[in-house]
Amino acid sequence: MNSNGINKAWAGRFTKANQPLMEKFNASISVDMRRWRADILGNQAWAKALNQAGLLTSDEFSQIKTGLNQVQTEFENGTFAVQSHDEDIHMAVERRLTEIIGDAGKKIHTGRSRNDQVVTDFRLYLKQVLPALMDEIGALQQALVDCAEANLDAIMPGYTHVQQAQPVLFSHYLLSLFWALKRDRERLADGVSRIDILPLAAGAIAGSAFPLDRQLLADELGFSAISENSMDAVADRDFVLELVNGLAQTQLHMSRYAEDLIMWSSLEFGFVELDDAWSTGSSMMPQKKNPDSLELIRGKASRLVGQQMHLMTMMKGVPLTYAKDLQEDKEITFDALDTVSDCLQVFVGVISSLTVKKEVMRA
Ligand code: ARG
Repeated sequence: MNSNGINKAWAGRFTKANQPLMEKFNASISVDMRRWRADILGNQAWAKALNQAGLLTSDEFSQIKTGLNQVQTEFENGTFAVQSHDEDIHMAVERRLTEIIGDAGKKIHTGRSRNDQVVTDFRLYLKQVLPALMDEIGALQQALVDCAEANLDAIMPGYTHVQQAQPVLFSHYLLSLFWALKRDRERLADGVSRIDILPLAAGAIAGSAFPLDRQLLADELGFSAISENSMDAVADRDFVLELVNGLAQTQLHMSRYAEDLIMWSSLEFGFVELDDAWSTGSSMMPQKKNPDSLELIRGKASRLVGQQMHLMTMMKGVPLTYAKDLQEDKEITFDALDTVSDCLQVFVGVISSLTVKKEVMRA
């Protein structure tokens, strides 16, 4: 709270509060919430570095540690109460920490900016969640292998130009997706090597005037490397673009195979039948079983292509270093991650319950 009663950490020179619409418009807290764990970890490491640099007394350091543990517990128990002036996750955590421990809480922001904090959190969060996504790709690969093994004797027409070309094994077809997914996993893993770089202590743009041990920060947070240029560190979102490009590629793969299976589940082809659990029906035309699961996988590919484009157009004119445009990156990325994760799981469901009509294929 500044001397004019304005409740924002950045309000030092401000004589007037934001319009309520501006406050809401400017906030990213609802999108940020899922990054709380990364934010707490970042704060714990930062407190350690501040203490080591002699910027916190040992009493302040231990108060901050205790306070952060309590904030963490509140998030874990779902009792953390977001307030209307909590602009983003960084300000929410600092606000709560200060409520719990008093003025020592404010010292946690010494020598840092939300500009380096936000990319640190984002990178940390992605490092936390990407292994699970890669496992989901792996689960789809496994479902394809299982379905291929269960149907080794299924022979079907292979197509080019949607014209019957040569007889192939259905397993041959299924495993073609296995290999595409293998490339997708490799692409994500490769991207992680560029996510895994610590930007913290880049400050707002030009680093920090305090002698902070960045290797300690990297070790505490489990980063393999440290950014070399502070301006690049706060401006760079290549790692986000690369990730969303990779996710779009995975979604495109799923979409093409969804299209084949949709066609093959029609009465005209009749090569496969989707399980009831992954289909819907029609009230007016009871003969129908609609492959909605696969249609949505195909439909959501446009969403990923849009998100790729969204990020690129968002980035193309942002003057270095940070501008608020960059706040948009997380909403796009989180939706892309959620969409691809849902689609991978649905695809596993479809493949692992698919009825393969070998006689129809052979005929
Ligand atoms: N909420 C912001 C974001 O997500 C954090 C960085 C804000 N930095 C600033 N200087 N306003 O990008």
